[in-house]
Amino acid sequence: MKSLLITNIAQLVQVEQTPRDAVRGADMAQLPIMEHCYLLAQGDKIKAFGPMSEAPATADSVIDAQGGMVLPSYCDGHTHIVYAGSREHEFIDKIRGLSYEEIAKRGGGILNSAKRLHETSEDELYQQSEARIYEMISYGTGACEIKSGYGLTTEDELKMLRVIKRLKENTPMTIKATFLGAHAVPAPYKGRQGEYVDLICNEMIPAVAAEGLAEYIDVFCDEGFFTCEETARMLKVGAEYGLLPKIHANELAVSGGVQVGVEHNAVSVDHLERMTEVEIEVLRQSSTIPTALPGTSFFLNLPFTPVKEMMAAGLPVALATDYNPGSTPSGNMKFVLSLACIKMRMLPAEAINATTINGAAALGLSASHGSICVGKQANFYITKPISSVDYIPYAYTQNIISRVVLNGEEVTL
Ligand code: NIG
Ligand code: FE
Repeated sequence: MKSLLITNIAQLVQVEQTPRDAVRGADMAQLPIMEHCYLLAQGDKIKAFGPMSEAPATADSVIDAQGGMVLPSYCDGHTHIVYAGSREHEFIDKIRGLSYEEIAKRGGGILNSAKRLHETSEDELYQQSEARIYEMISYGTGACEIKSGYGLTTEDELKMLRVIKRLKENTPMTIKATFLGAHAVPAPYKGRQGEYVDLICNEMIPAVAAEGLAEYIDVFCDEGFFTCEETARMLKVGAEYGLLPKIHANELAVSGGVQVGVEHNAVSVDHLERMTEVEIEVLRQSSTIPTALPGTSFFLNLPFTPVKEMMAAGLPVALATDYNPGSTPSGNMKFVLSLACIKMRMLPAEAINATTINGAAALGLSASHGSICVGKQANFYITKPISSVDYIPYAYTQNIISRVVLNGEEVTL
């Protein structure tokens, strides 16, 4: 197995002796940092780290960090990056005053992307999605979740999930796949939403499971989309086929989605722009990871998720991009960090915990990703020399990354 040694690291950030499943509440303000270090990878795993004075003399390859920092790669637990084309004309509609719901009602939004995806070949879709993966890697992300949900027919949902499978096999990103047939009601089922839910339960979920194409199931449980009853039904069938829930909840209204997710042991409930104390209490009694998507609030001018209240209640908050063509055309986790600090008043340390260990938890990857820990995946990035970790969200448009290592190998940026 090949070894890779990183020398002269000014600060090694988010080090752990034993992996934690998540970082909760007040603990999120703590970020373990080691000064003047080396880091050794062997094969695709982290083998050792410690003071520079104890660094091994040599390795198969050596990278001099030149006084930069090393941080674990971001874990982005919520994306929709398999899509065709883009939707900037809806961006103009939004600037002119239409809301996300109004655009969706006119057949824009998700249905617009579904039409484009249907007309795009699987290979073309793969090429476009692969480019987004490498874009995310260049911003420091090493693991992500990708959802289907722009197919909305059995055939096109499978097409999306097969693209995700190819991305898993052919790129250095660690990827989890989520089946999101219940993203919107497709045009032919307008007025017959129940029948579309039947199709998901009776045909789509079994077909996805038969090909082993997804780990998770998602439902857009919100006002104007799917009800709590419909969500419960789909999650129940999903569970019968081994799909764990990761759901869209409380983006547009206090939808009851948090409760349905928790009742069905969701790995995460995501968005949460509209929360009350009731939802926070329900989450406190669960192991579900609440995931905030501040890029969406920023882009759609929605309220920001009340993460301070959630952390005060002891919750392990995660952050993700929601990278998609409609509500967040950005896969930049560093910008998410900045938004979390600037708009949601998270401390940099809290935001870094939310994008690393808690992001990994939202992906079901806390044993292998999200920190610098012996035995974990060797996924990290080296920064240019910077004054402190707080500088990362502070310098909110500056690219501070100099090199990226995934699975123990440097990725050419
Ligand atoms: O997470 N809320 C639902 N789905 C996406 C948006 C998808 C789209 O507009 O294409 C989201 O924001
Ligand atoms: Fe989303």
